[in-house]
Amino acid sequence: LRPRDFDGVAVTITAGPTREALDPVRFLSNHSSGKMGFALAAAARARGARVRLVAGPVALDTPVGIERIDVESAEQMLESVLAGPGDLFIGCAAVADYRPGLPAAEKIKKQEARITLELERNPDILAAVAGLAQRPFAVGFAAETQDLVVNARNKLRNKHLDLIAANLVGERAEGRGFNSDYNALHVIWEGGDDALPLMRKSELAHRLLDRVRARMPNGEKV
Ligand code: C5P
Repeated sequence: LRPRDFDGVAVTITAGPTREALDPVRFLSNHSSGKMGFALAAAARARGARVRLVAGPVALDTPVGIERIDVESAEQMLESVLAGPGDLFIGCAAVADYRPGLPAAEKIKKQEARITLELERNPDILAAVAGLAQRPFAVGFAAETQDLVVNARNKLRNKHLDLIAANLVGERAEGRGFNSDYNALHVIWEGGDDALPLMRKSELAHRLLDRVRARMPNGEKV
């Protein structure tokens, strides 16, 4: 039996990829499945939280009792998040770092052998939330191919987060991460860390929430 230790806590979670339009029919995106974010939403709900799930395009059913807001681009995701960042914000989405500067109004035609794509930096949603005057407890994810803990600790500081969950991606991360039902996380905060071994994302979500609950002031803003 899970404790109702998030009773009355407003939790906002981002999940999945974003799509950045090139023209009316094409986009830049990534392979994020949204599974970790959706697992976190279901776990938080089961523990009594009111959950807003801001989701990029994913092929997942909405967990029962959750408010789901579907978005496409990083800019839309930012807008939806800022409309209700909650008491606890978990940035689980694989937000595209760049977007085409000015999407073409019409479908881009085949022409020359080589064309150039200009990209602009997208806003950092997590850093924006962590920088709010009335900031929620801010949790981030860090997908790294190497130096997991060092890189994640840098992100924790640079983005002013309360906690970060780091996971390996790429060649050394077989059977976990993007699209898998399994993952392992190294949870890091100022002054401590904890390695959560490979397990189902549904179980991992609860283990991560255990860590959040232990670090988060009781329902108050921090
Ligand atoms: O810096 P990096 O992209 O590796 O940080 C990953 C963390 O930041 C994740 O929690 C992700 O959801 C969040 N992020 C964001 N907006 C971006 C890029 C990343 O919220 N534009």
